[in-house]
Formats: sequence, C-alpha cells, structure tokens
Amino acid sequence: MSTSAQIGVTGLAVMGRNLARNFARNGYSVAVHNRTAAKTHALVAEFGDEGTFVAAETAEEFVAALERPRRLVIMVKAGEPTDAVIREFAPLLEPGDMIIDGGNAHFADTRRREKELREQGIHFVGTGVSGGEEGALLGPSIMPGGSVESYATLGPMLEKISAKAADGTPCVTHCGPDGAGHFVKMVHNGIEYADMQLIAEAYHLLREVAGYSPAEIADIFRTWNQGRLDSYLIEITAEVLSHVDAATGKPFVDIVQDQAEQKGTGRWTVQIALDLGVPVSGIAEAVFARSLSGHTELREASRGLAGPSVTPLGEAEKAAFADKVEQALYASKIVSYTQGFHEIQAGSEEYDWNIDLGAVAAIWRGGCIIRAAFLDRIRAAYDARADLPSLLSDKGFAEEIATAQDDWRAVLVAATQQGVPTPGFSAALAYYDALRAERLPAALTQGQRDFFGAHTYRRTDRAGSFHTLWGGDRSEVSA
Ligand code: 6PG
Repeated sequence: MSTSAQIGVTGLAVMGRNLARNFARNGYSVAVHNRTAAKTHALVAEFGDEGTFVAAETAEEFVAALERPRRLVIMVKAGEPTDAVIREFAPLLEPGDMIIDGGNAHFADTRRREKELREQGIHFVGTGVSGGEEGALLGPSIMPGGSVESYATLGPMLEKISAKAADGTPCVTHCGPDGAGHFVKMVHNGIEYADMQLIAEAYHLLREVAGYSPAEIADIFRTWNQGRLDSYLIEITAEVLSHVDAATGKPFVDIVQDQAEQKGTGRWTVQIALDLGVPVSGIAEAVFARSLSGHTELREASRGLAGPSVTPLGEAEKAAFADKVEQALYASKIVSYTQGFHEIQAGSEEYDWNIDLGAVAAIWRGGCIIRAAFLDRIRAAYDARADLPSLLSDKGFAEEIATAQDDWRAVLVAATQQGVPTPGFSAALAYYDALRAERLPAALTQGQRDFFGAHTYRRTDRAGSFHTLWGGDRSEVSA
C-alpha cells in the first residue's frame, strides 16, 4: 500500500461517496474507506476511472495510505456514529493530522471534539457542507471551522472542489475556530427552513386566495425566478409544482401527504437562538409549521372549526394579487435573512469566533440549498459596512421593504380574511413593525412584572431601578 493519498474519505454513503469522487475528479488522490468494505470496492469499481482512488479495507490501512499531515474526512451520521469513528481513528493518528467532519453535526459536539482532539495535537475541522448529493459531487458550498493552521493546508483543496459563485469565487471560507463552521451550517439550514416555508405560503395564497392551479403557479414562480427572487429553491419549486403524478394524472403536489418532516437542524437553530436571546421568529414559525402539519389527529379533530366565508378573487384581480405576493415573499425573505445573520453575529460574539458575515453571504451564493442572487446583495451590504447592526439597516434593503410594505400588508389582510395561515409572512411583518416601533408594549410587561413579583423596572427619565409599592400607597421606591 502506497502512502500517497492526499486526502481520505471514510463513510461512503451517498454524500461521502460523491465528495470522494469530487476530490478525485479534481486531481487529488483519495483513500476511501467504509465500515463495510463492499461499498469501498463498489465505489472504485464504478468510478475508478474518474481519478486516483486507494481502497482501504481497515482503519489501519486507511490511515497508512494517507500522506502526512493526514487529512481524513468523515462523512457519517451526526451524533454517536461520528464519535465512534473518531474513537476508532484518533489513536492511529499523529500530531498535526486533521480530521474533517463533513456531517451535519451540532456545533456544541464539534466544540467538544475539537477540544479533546486538540489535546492530542490533532486538528478537528467541523465543516458544514451544503448542496445535497449533487452539490457534493459537482461543487458544494463548504463552511469549515477549526484552526487557522488546518485551513492553510486544507483550504486550497476545499476551494478546488467547492462550487464557484457567478464571479468565479470559490464558495468556501474559514468560518472561524472550533464549532464556527457547523454553527454557520446550522443557521444556513434554519434559513433554508424559513425560505421553504415562505415559498410554501406564497403557493398556498396563490392557490387558495387567487385560485391558480399548481401548473399556473409553477409558471408564476418561473417568472419570479427571472427577477430578484432568482434562487435554487424557487427554481425547484416550479419543477415540483409542474410535475404530474403518473399514476393518477393529478398534480404531484396533490398526491403527497401534507406532513413535513425534519431531521433537526432547523430546530437546533431555534433552540440556540432562544439561548442566545435572538428573535428568529421566521425560522421558528417554519419549524412549528412543519410540526403542526404532522399532528394529524389534532388536525383531524379541528376540521370542523369555523372559518370565514371565502370570496375567491375574480380573473381581473388575480394577476395583481400575484404581484403583491411576490412583494410579500421578498420582504419576508429579507427579514428571515436579517434574523439568521443576527444569530450568526450573536453566536460569533458568544464564542469569540469573529465570523465575517459578508464572507458567509458570499459562500452561500453558489452550491448550497439557499443559493440565490439575493446573497450577493447581502455580501455587498456587509462589505460596505462590516458592523451593519442588521440587514434592515442597509439602505437598499430598507428601501425595497418600504416599497413592498403596502402590498405585504394587503396580502396579510387577504390571508386573514380568507383564513389562509401565513405564519412566516406574519411573523416577518410583526418583526419588522416591532423593530421600527417608537415604543413597544414591553413597558407594560415590565409594569406587570413589577406588580406581581417586585421585579423592578427602569424609567425613561432617570437612571436606576425602581419598584412601585403596588399593594400599599403606590409610591415609588428605588430598588
Ligand atoms: C444542505 C441541506 C441538508 C439537509 C436537508 C434536509 O444544505 O444540503 O441543508 O444538509 O440535511 O436539507 O433537512 P431536513 O430533513 O431537516 O429538512
């Protein structure tokens, strides 16, 4: 066995296999390994002509096949399977070697693993990889964390296999130390959930309020995809909506059960946001909408509840309504990204990661599920002002929302009147209106807290904390 492989991939399910092929197709010699050796041999038999593969049957063979410092990519299920693989390989490695975890790991696990392996002198590089099977093969968006030292040797390889944005820039950046890469990937997925939910709401409104058919809605999405909403998710939405079920001849979307599943990364985004105190209401509504859809018994039991009497739009009004939905979708999308980037900024501060938000937007322009023309605007906004308090503070986005807001509100009025649920659109608008409000009813909340629990409040006109003697003469005391 030669020790010539420049990189190794263990875990040859579809993502691992495609990533290994991507390295090989880009001229790297790749050692491949899987728990069951049959998969390893099948990969080499089927795709061996794409590049240089070194098939390894055992962990020892795999490690021996790698040039030093070793670069070992693990592509196994997040959680315990990842720990098991690390336990297997770490004792065989030497200081300076790198383990790259390309799975959807929780960033807290990545922080723990990085710390443990650092004590052995091994670099642990928790890396977000987005783009599904096709991205892994043809060029994903890659979000590595870990040490600067590891990125120096790994970065050029990742740049080579990554997607390239329209301007040719590789969609990979060193996100920051330890868990930064997996944190960024987690928020990517949260935004992915929000994007999908908003698109689903737009579809629902076009169908229920305007009365368009799925095929007609597909055409509307195709038109939108020519404009500022140009994105992978809008593109595939049109494909899904125009697809006809071969067995029944019905629109495919009508024969799929309406219960959305999830593997958990969107939920993590919300859980962590709660801990960090960041309002990601759009992402939360997207997660809850999936949960609600899955409560079939509850939904069954609620079918008879009263709703409004519905007046479908006339032919003449339909097209104008569709234009308004585009405005509502775009404005809500700006809010989702505002919330997601706020979470990355808060995580970066909490864990001292120093994440460059503009660089994150830049690497999401290609390869990943949320890739969109829009991300170039976000990159430009952060490039113009790295300390932008929020995306809504960017003049361009603020102006677009100002233009969209009347239609956004009109769409929500129609949705409310016709009884179509729009948790994503509504949460986005509520966030926008709350942020721009001069005064919030939080003052009343503080008064209530002081009334029942003497929790104190601060005044608008003087420094300090105060308490009103609610049960007594209602005079105020300094707390
Ligand atoms: C990606 C995706 C991917 C994710 C799927 C499924 O970036 O390629 O985010 O990592 O696992 O989208 O997610 P759910 O099953 O939770 O919808």
